[in-house]
Amino acid sequence: MTEARVSTRRRYLLCEPKYFTVEYAINPWMDPSQPVSTELAVKEWTELADTYRRWGHRVEFIEPQPGLPDMVFAANSGTVIGGRVLGARFRAPQRAPEADHYRRWFLDHGYRDVFMPTRTNEAEGDFTWTGAVLLAGTGFRTDPGAHSEAQEFLGVPVVSLSLVDPRYYHLDTALCVLTEANATRNAHIAYYPEAFSVGSQRVLRRLFPDAIIATEADAECLGLNAVSDGRNVVLPMEATHLADQLLHHGYDPTFLDISELRKSGGGPKCCTMELRG
Ligand code: ARG
Repeated sequence: MTEARVSTRRRYLLCEPKYFTVEYAINPWMDPSQPVSTELAVKEWTELADTYRRWGHRVEFIEPQPGLPDMVFAANSGTVIGGRVLGARFRAPQRAPEADHYRRWFLDHGYRDVFMPTRTNEAEGDFTWTGAVLLAGTGFRTDPGAHSEAQEFLGVPVVSLSLVDPRYYHLDTALCVLTEANATRNAHIAYYPEAFSVGSQRVLRRLFPDAIIATEADAECLGLNAVSDGRNVVLPMEATHLADQLLHHGYDPTFLDISELRKSGGGPKCCTMELRG
């Protein structure tokens, strides 16, 4: 019997890809010589925002800035748990100024506990809250020192995971939380094991024996860069095998065309920062 999945109301922060382009390459998906349509990216992103609103979630927006083509990837600029905001510190100088725009957004929107990291920290790109622990990726972007900084500031247990495949340079390209943990049940997640070191694969198996294991084809279209509200899951439309598994586990998948945004290495989750508490 499949479990009844229950959605909970979320609050998301998004940034329109008004200045989206691929003019530098900081991950293997990015090729500045290929044509990119800003208009198409805006269309894909608008569909994402409409999807969240259709599901009944609250969507907030931050003003995009010229010269910051990756600012659409809101997930990279903050980890918000219980109203505490851990900001970002980007590895690539091209993205560094994004962190301060988001910091100001938080201050302008009533957040009092805002801490800017001293170590490289690409926020929800590498930090995934399960409801019980904060899974923290490292290997390509976020510094392991940022993991202890996150634990100390957010006051949540952090589990470090090592990423080993440059295509899956952020944790949120290889793993997503489908149902958060609560007092009586473990979190339900999906992930692509090959993106992780052998030791980290063992940690994931130990913590999440019931996880959905994604195929290479699901991972290669950034299928794991999905967003779940506990029942509804938005994911790239090529991730058909993963969508079948989601259906089988009682979720309600919604496909999204992310072909333009993927040229920068991003998908639905990269475009979405969750504001918790
Ligand atoms: N071009 C961006 C970068 O390389 C993509 C970021 C995607 N964001 C994410 N949360 N995975 O930084």
